[in-house]
Amino acid sequence: MVFDLSADQREIQALARDFGEAEIAPNAGEWDRQHGFPRELLGKLADLGLLGVCIPEEYGGAGADFLSYIIVLEELSRADAGVGVTVAVHTSAVTLPILTFGTDEQRSRFVPPLARGEAIGAFALTEPEAGSDAGSLRTAAGPDGDGWRITGAKQWITNGSFGGTVLLFARTDPDTPGPKGVSAFILDGDQVRVTREEEKLGLNSSSTVDLVIEGAEVGRDRLLHEEGKGFTVAMATLDGGRIGIAAQALGIAQAAYDVAREYALQRRQFGKRIADFQAIQWKLADMATEIDAARLLVYRAAWLKQEGRPHTEEGAKAKLFASEMARRQTAEAIQVLGGYGYTKEFPAERYYRDAKITEIYEGTSEIQRLVIARSILGLRSRELAQG
Ligand code: CAA
Repeated sequence: MVFDLSADQREIQALARDFGEAEIAPNAGEWDRQHGFPRELLGKLADLGLLGVCIPEEYGGAGADFLSYIIVLEELSRADAGVGVTVAVHTSAVTLPILTFGTDEQRSRFVPPLARGEAIGAFALTEPEAGSDAGSLRTAAGPDGDGWRITGAKQWITNGSFGGTVLLFARTDPDTPGPKGVSAFILDGDQVRVTREEEKLGLNSSSTVDLVIEGAEVGRDRLLHEEGKGFTVAMATLDGGRIGIAAQALGIAQAAYDVAREYALQRRQFGKRIADFQAIQWKLADMATEIDAARLLVYRAAWLKQEGRPHTEEGAKAKLFASEMARRQTAEAIQVLGGYGYTKEFPAERYYRDAKITEIYEGTSEIQRLVIARSILGLRSRELAQG
């Protein structure tokens, strides 16, 4: 086994880290307070190739491997988790599935603008009544000429307000309930309407909206993969997307650890640095150990994916562990900082608020456990799992 990153991976890690430290982290507190994504940042991310890291050069991307992309998400999230999720959804949940499942025409039409950051991607699966049970979605795609007319509502859609490319899941077969009657479509931003911007506990620099689709007409050229196979597209997409969210959690935890370590080495109480007390040493030792463990799980899952090997179980394990670890250890970072940790003078409280969502979106921890349990018990689908 080789645990070293390659020269190319180290180079892209340094690029994302330097950019995060210079252009993102100094502003993250202000973006959090303003509840807004800094749109001007998109141009800078695009100029550096960070909106298409793992997309082949022939499709306008940087041509790096999936692990490099995961490392970029970790570094961006270390600077600001809202920027991390914006890039993660855009890349893993929209650009990659079009590349994977699209026809040649769809790939050459939709992928280059996404990879170059000219269009920002949104993934519209969740609905008010279809969260963890994604297969019960009700947005309807009824036959209309040679194509479909789509009507419905979507909820909590990251990047949905950017008006770019929307990967949207709708039921093409009203007589088949559950996952089988679902198809995936590529919509333009002007085919959906934003009805509400969500107010959240954290991740305030990312945009999360509710959408309605009011009779959007789509032709066959907008159907991604086969009719009725949309749920497979969604699940395969989330298999990779979850590795990205795990990387986001890892980056948040790393940022919290960095602040806690620095503070412990400076802060003096009872005549010495608090880092000289065993209580604080053990907290930092546990943080460093758990962050390392999460990083190994995340990088392994990313490596499996880029090798083209099964990664459903490993991605779910990485997300489950990294997100719960991030919630635990961002809380510990606040504890190390004591009263200062609870104030907005330090970013520890933001890391804590931002970490929580990683246990919820792209599949809750409970869903990750379900995915892992089905895999280790050999229960491959809902029917089998229910006996
Ligand atoms: N890859 C490919 N196909 C898969 C698959 C996978 N990993 N997992 C399941 N499938 C296929 C199955 O083979 C089956 O197809 P066939 O019938 O043709 O064999 C079909 O999908 C249905 O599978 P299940 O019976 O397992 O479906 P289920 O209804 O039991 O659901 C679930 C499984 C894991 C619970 C799924 O509903 C799920 O992942 N729920 C969580 C939803 C989620 O993660 N939402 C995230 C929203 S996006 C987001 O959060 C983005 C953001 O803002 C950051």
